[in-house]
Amino acid sequence: MVKIGILGVGTVGASVAKILEENGDIIEARAGKKIIVKSGVVKNLSKDRGISIVLSDNPLDVVDDPEIDIVVELMGGVEEPYALVKKALENGKAVVTANKALLAYHRYELQEIAGDIPLMYEASTAGGIPVIGALRNGLSANHIESIQGIMNGTCNYMLTKMINEGAQYDDILKESQELGYAESDPTFDVGGFDASHKLLILASIAYGLDAKPEDILIEGIENITQTDVAFAKEFGYEIKLLGIAKKVGEGVELRVHATMIPQESMIAKVDGVMNAVTIIGDRVGETMYYGPGAGGDATASAVIADIVDIVRGNQGPMLGYKKGLESGLKLLTPDNIVTQYYLRLQVDDKSGVLATITSTLGEFGISIEAMLQKPTKNEEIAKLLFTTHHCKESKMQDAMTALSKLDVVHGEIAMMRIEK
Ligand code: HSE
Repeated sequence: MVKIGILGVGTVGASVAKILEENGDIIEARAGKKIIVKSGVVKNLSKDRGISIVLSDNPLDVVDDPEIDIVVELMGGVEEPYALVKKALENGKAVVTANKALLAYHRYELQEIAGDIPLMYEASTAGGIPVIGALRNGLSANHIESIQGIMNGTCNYMLTKMINEGAQYDDILKESQELGYAESDPTFDVGGFDASHKLLILASIAYGLDAKPEDILIEGIENITQTDVAFAKEFGYEIKLLGIAKKVGEGVELRVHATMIPQESMIAKVDGVMNAVTIIGDRVGETMYYGPGAGGDATASAVIADIVDIVRGNQGPMLGYKKGLESGLKLLTPDNIVTQYYLRLQVDDKSGVLATITSTLGEFGISIEAMLQKPTKNEEIAKLLFTTHHCKESKMQDAMTALSKLDVVHGEIAMMRIEK
């Protein structure tokens, strides 16, 4: 019999306990041993969680319990779980974590501390989709050319509702929280940080890159308006929050941002809380992984898969490399990203303005691909919406600064990147 202890018995922890009990027969048959939850840790002991496991409010009751074989960390946060996971590993216990923020900051230290002790994290990225296993194991023959994914269920749910039903941002964010998709601080979702944590985990397995969230471009969905949605529809795009890792020469771009993607692409059709990750390997070509990216049972399914792997003795090296990777690949700074852009700005509606805008862009070597002008309630002001051909991020940023200084331009300039 294998005994587990759960740090953080919230939605996912309760699902882990429930599935281990309700699907106990099949799980035992697959693992070869019976797996039971010995105890769990919560902050508030008086709250009813609808499950019958022994609960404590002291994490050391799990981490230091000699009878517990596997610690499942579902607390969230970074430094407190780091200290507890470290202690559990030092106590010789295997660890399964769903904590992407912890891994975004401490995955390399934890790998070092773990050594040969299993430390598994399938549930940290794209919830119930076994994408970590695919990248660590299934694609291990390949150099990874790119990873592109919808990695945040909350944002995808919100964007789907905004685009398909014209829903208002605040209403739909509240709904995502009520459905249990959003993080306890939803700015992690809508600001792109949650997706960035997941992207960094995948980038370590794909490229051996030790980058932190501060090192990469992260933008969220907060500034998207119905004007952008209408433009996207008219020009054949969907809007998705994407995590993108792309090998470019000897460099790797890592970025998270709202992205316009062609409506006919497979990933554009991924709606609601669903996640999807497309990985291109140099030998296999393009593969795609699709499924629920958030929610108790889906995430618990991935947690239990890791537990089963550990019980079977299947886990392998934490980040997928048995020895150091000398790939020579370096993280490209955000300035060096090259892509296409969409811009939205408000301008004086009078002759010569368009020429001023295009010539300002021209000064930075930026050429316009498509354009639309829309009236506003103020008849002296028009909205200009356009897409550009490829250019470097630094040029686009400089051009936006120059545009915002023009007398004919009013208010904030909105920008979104395009991936085709
Ligand atoms: N808040 C996350 C999401 C949960 O919406 O995808 C899963 O990591």
